[in-house]
Amino acid sequence: MHHTDGHAPELGVGMVGYAFMGQAHSQGWRTVSHVFDLPLRPVLAAICGREPSAVRAAADRHGWAAAETDWRDLVARDDVHLVDICTPGDSHAQIAIAALEAGKHVLCEKPLANSVAEAEAMAAAARAARSRGQVAMVGFNYRRVPAVTRARHLIAEGRLGTLRHVRVAYLQDWLVDPDVPLTWRLRRERAGSGALGDLGAHAVDLAQYLAGEPLLGVSALTETFVRQRPLPGHPAPSSPPAQVARGPVTVDDAAVFAGRLASGALVSVEASRMAAGRKNALRFEVSGELGSLAFDLERLNELLVHDHRAPGADSGFTRVVVTEPEHPYLQAWWPPGHALGYEHTFTHQARDLVTAIARGTEPSPSFADGLQVQRVLAAVQDSAARNAVYTPVPSGSTDPDRP
Ligand SMILES: NC(=O)c1ccc[n+]([C@@H]2O[C@H](COP(=O)([O-])OP(=O)(O)OC[C@H]3O[C@@H](n4cnc5c(N)ncnc54)[C@H](O)[C@@H]3O)[C@@H](O)[C@H]2O)c1
Repeated sequence: MHHTDGHAPELGVGMVGYAFMGQAHSQGWRTVSHVFDLPLRPVLAAICGREPSAVRAAADRHGWAAAETDWRDLVARDDVHLVDICTPGDSHAQIAIAALEAGKHVLCEKPLANSVAEAEAMAAAARAARSRGQVAMVGFNYRRVPAVTRARHLIAEGRLGTLRHVRVAYLQDWLVDPDVPLTWRLRRERAGSGALGDLGAHAVDLAQYLAGEPLLGVSALTETFVRQRPLPGHPAPSSPPAQVARGPVTVDDAAVFAGRLASGALVSVEASRMAAGRKNALRFEVSGELGSLAFDLERLNELLVHDHRAPGADSGFTRVVVTEPEHPYLQAWWPPGHALGYEHTFTHQARDLVTAIARGTEPSPSFADGLQVQRVLAAVQDSAARNAVYTPVPSGSTDPDRP
């Protein structure tokens, strides 16, 4: 960290990958110190991609001072104190472990890794780095939608009493078209899994975050509905179908599972990229003995709240617009009713990470939380491979925040 007169000390950020998540994270890093009062001021020190002219153009467009073409050079820079990993899952483990060993803080996109073994190595590296004052966080950004954080607070306060049901569905439709090409997200060696790791990882994290307890076991089915897709870079989609070179899809298009929490509550999760008409519909509904909460990311400023103790005839779900100054993160933004969006979750993520770095506290979600999600994903795959046989999730969570 570097002190400049009259300002909070600087925290140099180095980011790897600059496509979808790279742009979203850039937005968060650019805005965070203008919106929130922070003990450290993030500066966009350097980004990394593999193609020199493209990475230089991305640096200029998104506001990064320097550009590197090898992530090892980015990690080695003295002006980089935090490495932000926005690449596909097959490179998360090597970059994160090298950065932690080089004394850097780390933010890593989800899912933490492509396998439990990789995630265990990452969590171990984060534990060792913790004793040197470094922190490591995984990018489950949807925890930072104010309505979602608010839902967690209400559940933690006991407003729903004992939980009975946690239902989470994460639905998209961009794979309905069988001619969508075979990109990295459809290849097991690059992405680890399909809708499961991409969307299901968020759903699993939210189920465990909202309930405040881990999944104990799952009974799962997965399916790959379109098994061959056009290879990227081959004849354009307008070519006659017979001339388009296709390759095998090696991940799931959809995953569904039932699970159990330690408290006895039942969980259902559905993750699909084949839900025609649903663009980015992350929905949950949590039911307890005293009431329920419901949320839909496509209406992300709203939380539906039901108090089951209210008089029967007129009771039901109340639509709360979560933009009041006392709601999470809202003090720093706009007057009530002036809505927030998707991008704000990345500003909130940057704020919470910078705060943890300055205080030296364990960030949430930690790499241990990311490892726990990875164990659930692996149990889902094991269960699905055996036609939905109930499969325990190995415990081993070291997160002190988890009951
Ligand atoms: N939190 C979320 O809501 C969310 C949303 C989308 C993706 N993700 C996650 O973010 C990660 C990246 O996904 P994306 O959608 O941004 O993918 P993307 O394909 O849009 O971008 C990947 C980037 O990584 C770069 N890259 C790949 N290998 C590299 C290497 N070895 N060195 C340097 N750069 C490399 C690519 O050039 C590209 O810039 C994945 O883990 C994904 O699961 C999270």
